[in-house]
Amino acid sequence: MTMLKIGVSSVFERAKIVAISLLMTLTISCEASNILVSPLIGKGSHFYLSAAIGEQLLTRGHNLTYLVSNAFEDHVRQSRFGEKFHYEIFKHSIPVDEIHEQFNNFSRSLSLPGRGNEMEVSYMILATRRNDCATILGDKMLMSRLRSANFSSLLYDITWACGAIIGEVLNIPYFAVVPYPSPCFHTASEGSGFNPAFVPSMLTSYSHIMSFKERLVNTFSFIMHRNLAIQFSFKPYKELSNQYNLLDPYELIKRTKMWFVNSDFVGEYPCALPPNVIPVGGLTAKDPEQLPSDIESFIQGSGGDGIIICSFGTFLVLDESNMALVKMFVDAFARLPQRVIWLLKTSPPFPIPSSIKIVPWLPQNDILGHPRTKAIFFHGGHNSYYEAIYHGVPAVVMPIFADQFGVSNRIAQFGLGLKLNKEEVTSDLIYEALYEVTSNRTYMQTAIRMSANFRNRPMKPAERAAFWIDHAIKHGTDNFELPVDSLNIFQYYLIDVIAFISVFMIFSIYLLIKCTTVVCTHICRFRNISKNKKID
Ligand SMILES: *[C@@H]1O[C@H](CO)[C@@H](O)[C@H](O)[C@H]1NC(C)=O
Ligand SMILES: *[C@@H]1O[C@H](CO)[C@@H](O)[C@H](O)[C@H]1NC(C)=O
Ligand SMILES: *[C@@H]1O[C@H](CO)[C@@H](O)[C@H](O)[C@H]1NC(C)=O
Ligand SMILES: *[C@@H]1O[C@H](CO)[C@@H](O)[C@H](O)[C@H]1NC(C)=O
Repeated sequence: MTMLKIGVSSVFERAKIVAISLLMTLTISCEASNILVSPLIGKGSHFYLSAAIGEQLLTRGHNLTYLVSNAFEDHVRQSRFGEKFHYEIFKHSIPVDEIHEQFNNFSRSLSLPGRGNEMEVSYMILATRRNDCATILGDKMLMSRLRSANFSSLLYDITWACGAIIGEVLNIPYFAVVPYPSPCFHTASEGSGFNPAFVPSMLTSYSHIMSFKERLVNTFSFIMHRNLAIQFSFKPYKELSNQYNLLDPYELIKRTKMWFVNSDFVGEYPCALPPNVIPVGGLTAKDPEQLPSDIESFIQGSGGDGIIICSFGTFLVLDESNMALVKMFVDAFARLPQRVIWLLKTSPPFPIPSSIKIVPWLPQNDILGHPRTKAIFFHGGHNSYYEAIYHGVPAVVMPIFADQFGVSNRIAQFGLGLKLNKEEVTSDLIYEALYEVTSNRTYMQTAIRMSANFRNRPMKPAERAAFWIDHAIKHGTDNFELPVDSLNIFQYYLIDVIAFISVFMIFSIYLLIKCTTVVCTHICRFRNISKNKKID
């Protein structure tokens, strides 16, 4: 009986604790706030990065509003995040069809062999983004809705400086999602630990151990790259920020309270980070969900050899203008013992072997998580890179653009896979690389080791980002920000201190020499006098 009593009372006790902790969670979620997100314009991978963070912010009770364009409204609403967030839609400065065409032109210019007109197209896209920003700020209705929504803070994609400008106009703190590596590079303006002595610049293919010549080249390439990035990304917004009486766009970027960088040291060279730079690489990597039945049965049919994924995102347009490359891929894939699932928007005009499945869309993360997946053949995009590491899948990478070259270098240097050069690629080279990566066990062993390392963390990357945003909203970030902005270049590099010490040392040495000579002459004179005296 007493036993029963104790049992019952302890159950009551437990219920009380549960009730109290429930109440506490409720009180915590009362601090929920409205957060505005500017995920570039809502396109593809940029949207998915900030959506992964937004999803975790929802679980912390916050209310998320995404500012996306009318060209990608349907895309975000039809995604699995469609129902979860609120949306504010802005209109592009040009018709929606032209926006899509610009991106197609861009991908096409990258896909064709040799030098395309990608610079020209990039400039056009940049100009359009600047005009979009002017349109948003000039849209009185939209801006007044944003003002009255009482946002506590803004999360923006660093690729589009407009986010910081909107944050400044709304007078709220802003956080940045940085879709590229290195965690140090993009925050260099904040005085981060980017040190060209051991952090290779994106434009070089060095590892973190460099010879004198490599360090020299690396330093110049770092300075050049940084200035180019400022020139391209921020300068076009100068006129606009003047118009709204704001600081120089680059100064606005520096006011970013926290930086969430799509990078992790498991797949990156080490560097020193300021406290407000949080590496969150692998935002889109997660445990696999059930595959569509046609894909599942295709994979099951591969037997012990397994499958390879081929996915070049939107970067490599393989269409009528580029059939030679498509043929090259098919010839290489046909020789492999593995089956291949290939993300391709067009269907080739020649017969395709049954070991190749062409799909217009694929659940990449879920396929990577399948035990029969042996390798991925891709362009070196960051999301895919960390998904491959998360699931422990070796890679063959053929970079197309910008930071993808850096990813390809690291994949090769870490031993996770092999890289191919787009300009020199042949069917044989593709076959040999894929054959080597799937048959030589060292790549799979490296992949498994990196995966175990990457998964052994207290929080998932998106949880970590959401935790820190929540923390910053509650407690501010003053104690995390380096006071670099209040220092000029002489103070920052301690040039004044070094100059002072040098002058002091030179003066001391001068004084020492002077004293010695004076003492010496005195001694000599004394000796001479005493000598003279002896002679006397
Ligand atoms: C969440 O944000 C949306 C759009 O900004 C707003 O309409 C809605 O009232 C907000 N919900 C809450 C609970 O604050
Ligand atoms: C796309 O490229 C084509 C051909 O080079 C050109 O005529 C067209 O104006 C471009 N479209 C856009 C929106 O830039
Ligand atoms: C705006 O939000 C703050 C806290 O985030 C709150 O104190 C204030 O009452 C809100 N104002 C309106 C008009 O909702
Ligand atoms: C497997 O790959 C490693 C690393 O590239 C290489 O050192 C080794 O010789 C390869 N083994 C075979 C059997 O080819």
